[in-house]
Amino acid sequence: MLSNLAVRDIETLVHPYTNLATHREVGPLILERGEGVFVYDTTGKNYIEGMAGLWCTSLGYSNEELVEVATEQLRKLPFTHIFSGRSHDPAIELAEKLKEIAPVPISKVFYGASGSDANDTQIKLVWYINNALGRPQKKKIISRLKGYHGVTVASASLTGLPANHTDFDLPIANILHTSCPHHYRFAQPGESEQDFSTRLAAELEEMILREGPDTVAAFIAEPVMGAGGAITPPEGYFEKINAVLAKYDVLFIADEVITGFGRTGNMFGTTTYGLNADTLSCAKAITSAYFPLSAVMINEATYEVMVDQSRKIGTFGHGNTYAGHPVGCAIAVKTLEIYQRDNIIEHVRKVAPRFLQRVEKLAEHPLVGEARGVGLIAGIEFVKDKATKAQFEAKKGVALKSGAFAQEEGLIVRPLGGDRVAFCPPLIISEAEIDEMFDRYERALAKTLNWVKAEGLI
Ligand SMILES: Cc1ncc(COP(=O)(O)O)c(C=O)c1O
Repeated sequence: MLSNLAVRDIETLVHPYTNLATHREVGPLILERGEGVFVYDTTGKNYIEGMAGLWCTSLGYSNEELVEVATEQLRKLPFTHIFSGRSHDPAIELAEKLKEIAPVPISKVFYGASGSDANDTQIKLVWYINNALGRPQKKKIISRLKGYHGVTVASASLTGLPANHTDFDLPIANILHTSCPHHYRFAQPGESEQDFSTRLAAELEEMILREGPDTVAAFIAEPVMGAGGAITPPEGYFEKINAVLAKYDVLFIADEVITGFGRTGNMFGTTTYGLNADTLSCAKAITSAYFPLSAVMINEATYEVMVDQSRKIGTFGHGNTYAGHPVGCAIAVKTLEIYQRDNIIEHVRKVAPRFLQRVEKLAEHPLVGEARGVGLIAGIEFVKDKATKAQFEAKKGVALKSGAFAQEEGLIVRPLGGDRVAFCPPLIISEAEIDEMFDRYERALAKTLNWVKAEGLI
């Protein structure tokens, strides 16, 4: 029986990333409040937020300091834009802090309101700079199959997932997709991680040569693939990719929207995996998701070209109303202060071994083919047959079913395509809460196995 609120939801809302037909029958999960790593629904039932919302609420759900700083800023100056050279203290302070903690030398910061618009800005900057440098043919951007970079027309084109392209008439021109670095699923039999990485780097090089190096401007990658399946890169991957990009003067855009701010056990995934990034996109944990804010980190060479273009054109003709929103910037400054003061990265390093141990233990379950992660992010993959890695028919929705059972058990995880499930809890999670989270998921797995058997899927 659907509650009154659920019925009103069905009558009024279009939910992102939701099967709209199914939703009309099953209705929403309506959350009411949060505390630490827990969220509570309207009946008072608690759930461990095993996904930190959407890989973002790193400081959990009841951080009073963030509430206070937001309230203070709302009272003082709830809004000013930063167009036409206007500015304010929190925007400046945040940019200074970001420059300080950036994993590569950064000159300036450009603000937006979402990961998608940050990556849109990246594409526009690449095109703008190459026009300015007199190389109008150098415009193609290479992304990866299963990469996730957002949903705007351009950033959805970078995204390498079918649901983001089908019937949306995407991708747009000048966006290419190279192979997905998922060793478990795409390596040839017996191929080591290093050999797989060598093969993928060679494929990237072939693509650049086939297209013509003077037409390829940039490569974009997430240090750990998120929505594509929570996939950690194989050994040697980024080292080999770095070498190819350097050889053909191709810029490296690091999409740190999920991996930024401690998720992998370093401030940035770029450091964890040695990406030779020229520029970074950040969002999500920059404010612990208490406010929508994104940042593009721009290096000195790019900035100098932008300044020259302004002299020529008369302005830098790009930016959103809410770019550098004072409330978002004030929250982000406080969030970064808390990360540093409370040694969040040290905490991640301390609890990650327990998290990864429990993740790896899931691979002992008869339905789990792969279970792998880094820091406090991990993915598992369901298979019908562990020896052959054969998968269930996608439409049977085994991962999805395990997510529904997890919900019954009081845990929120994220089923993804490829019959995978992601885990990405708030960074403040304790070892005891990690154990509770996986105890709940193991119960959900037991129910999933019973269901799979009852349905005659194995
Ligand atoms: C790596 C990555 N880039 C970009 C985005 C898009 O961010 P947003 O949903 O804030 O537009 C996401 C969202 O999950 C992401 O994971």
